Amino acid sequence: MTATPIPRPVRTHDELAVLIRKQIGNRLFVSVSNREPFVHSRSPDGTVQVRAAVGGLTLALNSVMQAVGGIWVAHGDGNADRETADARGRVAVPPDAPSYELQRVWLEQVEHERYYSGFANQALWPLCHVAFTKPVFRQDHWEAYRGVNTKFAEAVAGVVGDREAIVFVQDYHFALLPTLIRQRCPRATILHFWHIPWPLPDILRVCPWSPELLDGLLDNDVLGFHTPDYAERFLAAASARPGWRSAGQDILERKDSRICVRPFPISIDFDGISAKAAGTDCDAAVDRLRKRYGLAGKFIVLGLDRIDYTKGVIERLQAVERLLELHPEMRGRLVYLNAGAPSRNEIPAYQQLHRSMDELETRINATYGGSYGNPVVSIKEQLPESDVLALYRLADVCAVSSLEDGMNLVAKEYIAARNDNGGRLLLSEFTGAAWELPGAETFNPFAIDAFSERLLAMSEPDSGQSAERMRKLRQHVREHTIYSWIGSILETLQPSGRTSG
Ligand code: G6P
Repeated sequence: MTATPIPRPVRTHDELAVLIRKQIGNRLFVSVSNREPFVHSRSPDGTVQVRAAVGGLTLALNSVMQAVGGIWVAHGDGNADRETADARGRVAVPPDAPSYELQRVWLEQVEHERYYSGFANQALWPLCHVAFTKPVFRQDHWEAYRGVNTKFAEAVAGVVGDREAIVFVQDYHFALLPTLIRQRCPRATILHFWHIPWPLPDILRVCPWSPELLDGLLDNDVLGFHTPDYAERFLAAASARPGWRSAGQDILERKDSRICVRPFPISIDFDGISAKAAGTDCDAAVDRLRKRYGLAGKFIVLGLDRIDYTKGVIERLQAVERLLELHPEMRGRLVYLNAGAPSRNEIPAYQQLHRSMDELETRINATYGGSYGNPVVSIKEQLPESDVLALYRLADVCAVSSLEDGMNLVAKEYIAARNDNGGRLLLSEFTGAAWELPGAETFNPFAIDAFSERLLAMSEPDSGQSAERMRKLRQHVREHTIYSWIGSILETLQPSGRTSG
């Protein structure tokens, strides 16, 4: 029998399915993340609702799990999660067409506060992003982080047992998990993707537990980052740990262990997003939003992020303010759509960010608003997908202003949604996307005056260069999809489960 050839790079869901059969065979595939893909909650009328969780990571991994099957281990944080799961904490998902199982892990409130709002998001998040927010290192946060990593290792051991399995761990919530899984599941191959930047060595050193973080991550078989820079920084720090030595460009070895550390830039389901953006639901949303926000005839700048200090949301507002101050002709012409879902509201740095945003928005609208409406339209909510895609279609400019960002999938979604080759992406040079996307228009979000001048320049039509640029960007994202991402990670496995360096 001749094997079906695997296209390179893998681009679609079906091509990925072929690769999976070869690379995974009969082994169990388990993925682990903090956030669960589907949340059950009880509404005030007593009925139980299920919704897909918010966020690029869960969306991306859900596409992968639907193609691969297996079990996804995650924190169950919905208030009806327990009653909708079986006695082991399992539930089949996606709810409308189940194709894999979700194994929920139960955390106490204080545990979650210290591990998630504490060590993960007040220590590691600011440590890894150079956004000049000081990390908070507390012993009780660290202990809870270690405790929750152990709880997840128990949950993984519970689903894997003594089977051969591939365990795919997500992100900075679980730096210690690889060691803890290895101790419990000797036949598991462990892959780990770190979805945020990896810090420069001198920054890493300020974390009192950086040796433990490095040692935990070194117990992976494969560790992925978005960009070569992040992978190299990790290799430089990790190769100094006792016993480890470099055994090739992306391989470290110790007596009986070996790890492969490589860049695997994450992406999106280009065909799926592009088709939805061309659909009738999206057409209706475009008309509705254009009317609701009075957008007809305006120059529309869009900023769309989870509300986070790493995203440069303040810098974007400052650039808009500067533009309106220096260029009165833009008053009444420019509309800045400041869209984003609030997140991590229990953390003081996020509360402060909301206050600063509100203050700036109010000042800009009071100073530069008029009978023609307000220049800043604030949409602080989790929008349905059709509305997000409609905003992409409406925006003349999508400004991605992250101060540092591992990849940034908004940039790629905007590109996929622009079936008309219209719109312009203004992309922070401090994103993984700026490294990856050929010919993107990049800028430095810290330089507010230059940022506002770039927005001004983009308000004038050009003679086709931007459409040509968008065409090329679309070509790139069409060829490098979320399926290529997981495909290239799985290709590091030999069919036996050992990694190929
Ligand atoms: C961002 C990061 C991901 C991270 C996620 C967590 O999207 O890029 O690396 O996993 O945030 O978000 P959450 O809302 O679950 O804290």
